[in-house]
Amino acid sequence: MRPTLPVAVVISGRGSNMEAIARAASSANRGYRVVRVIADRPTAGGIARAAALGIPTSVVPVKDYADRGAFEAALAAELESTGAQLVVLAGFMRILSPEFVRRFEGRLLNIHPSLLPAYKGLDTHARVLAAGDSHHGASVHYVTAELDGGPVVMQGRLPVRPGDTAESISARVHTLEHIIYPNVCTLIAAGRVAWRNGTVYFDDEPLTSPLIEENDAAA
Ligand code: GRF
Repeated sequence: MRPTLPVAVVISGRGSNMEAIARAASSANRGYRVVRVIADRPTAGGIARAAALGIPTSVVPVKDYADRGAFEAALAAELESTGAQLVVLAGFMRILSPEFVRRFEGRLLNIHPSLLPAYKGLDTHARVLAAGDSHHGASVHYVTAELDGGPVVMQGRLPVRPGDTAESISARVHTLEHIIYPNVCTLIAAGRVAWRNGTVYFDDEPLTSPLIEENDAAA
């Protein structure tokens, strides 16, 4: 049997994805466990949520460091000290340097609220509505030096509804995120999804397009 995969989750905000990932692992054998939740600011709501779940937490306050390099060195040291083999960014609102990304290459994931490669960056829900798109969703991807540009492992996809607002569709996208992020962690823990030398494999075949979860989450 495979050993349980130790996962660290890095957050800046409320941590609902962190909670979904942690709860999934404690309610069923997902093959991974959350060993630490780390925030870049003491006010991140997810720190209290993690503590309530009994997960060890730490804060690496970005304000305490002179520059990005010093902050990232502290974050990397904190992450390495946890023994985590997978680092999950979940609402972490900082852009990481290529050096940091290289250090954690192949064991660093992010979730982005769009069907990448569409709508990299911010304000994705409003931009999807303004464009009149028929579908929206979220993507879990490996992190590379290109912002929101690493290989996508899984997407949750849902239809835009007539009358949707950024708030209403964001809520449904979040519900989908809470399904796909734990599922990707589970696939990685099982060895079914793996990063080898810059290529993502699914069941030992190169993954040529993202795994799709079709789901109108609030239906
Ligand atoms: C999510 O929408 C995620 O896609 C984006 O930041 C948000 C984090 O939400 N990267 P939460 O803190 O997990 O609730």
